[in-house]
Amino acid sequence: MKKKLNKIARDINNFLIKFLSNQKYTDLIKPMKYGLLPGGKKIRSKLIVDVGKIFSSKYQNLIRIGAAVECIHAYSLIHDDLPCMDNDSLRRGKLSTHKKFGESTAILAGNSLLTIAFEILSSPNFNLESKVKIKLINLISECSGHSGIAGGQYSDLSFERKKIPLKKIVEMQIKKTGKLFSFCCMAPAIMNKKIKYLQDFDQIGSNIGLLFQIADDLIDFTGDTKKVGKKTKKDLKKGKATLISLLGHKNTIKYNNKLKLKIFKKLNKFGKKSQDLKNTINYIANRIK
Ligand code: IPE
Ligand code: IPE
Ligand code: MG
Ligand code: MG
Ligand code: MG
Repeated sequence: MKKKLNKIARDINNFLIKFLSNQKYTDLIKPMKYGLLPGGKKIRSKLIVDVGKIFSSKYQNLIRIGAAVECIHAYSLIHDDLPCMDNDSLRRGKLSTHKKFGESTAILAGNSLLTIAFEILSSPNFNLESKVKIKLINLISECSGHSGIAGGQYSDLSFERKKIPLKKIVEMQIKKTGKLFSFCCMAPAIMNKKIKYLQDFDQIGSNIGLLFQIADDLIDFTGDTKKVGKKTKKDLKKGKATLISLLGHKNTIKYNNKLKLKIFKKLNKFGKKSQDLKNTINYIANRIK
């Protein structure tokens, strides 16, 4: 698992370095690269490659889609760390982008990473029918804006220090994290025109995203800053509405174990071809250990 993940991370970074080097040089490139390249796990790209295996998708196309997703993800982290949001100074084991380059630069580098995702997917070098590209761009846009990351981040912040019911917390987590995971799981099906599986992978993706966010919350609760490269034990201080704050630590672990089994059940019909995807899901669930 680790070896495969590292290879994908390398291929994604190489793609992004090349893509950026083909653009006109600007002063924002340095902060953009800082927030994008080193240290990220590239787990979303791994999911794209895993689902791509089920549909026998072309690896280079999967890497391009992964690169676009990692740009949007990096943008969301840069903004998530800003003082007006989570106010975090450590990310991926180093200073967060606004600490290193200043707030305005971090905001603009984040904006530029968001839009570069659309450049990557609409590029003439992406060897796909225009119709399919438009479908991908349409979906990734939806997953990033007010019904996805941005909307979920809005709820995450407005829920601070309030008692929020389970359903609302889950909804918020699916928006801020699950939607982009849904895109990752749906993209290979869109690319290979397996339209009848889209609904399945929408649901599988948002549940994997939820599993991932809950694991991230558990890591914040018990994890070690050195190991995870970001400050831990902060959600409680900030009064974040999480399953841990609502149900407690033990029950949250139980909730995630059940959620994992639910995802596995949904994957059964894809047989052996879904083994890599199952390994990634196990990796996500076991990160808390
Ligand atoms: C962190 O995501 C933000 C969440 C959605 C929980 P990752 O844990 O994937 O961050 P990197 O890319 O590996 O740093
Ligand atoms: C971030 O969630 C989710 C995003 C979409 C950026 P968190 O705020 O829990 O992520 P970390 O813990 O700072 O990485
Ligand atoms: Mg946050
Ligand atoms: Mg945060
Ligand atoms: Mg967190």
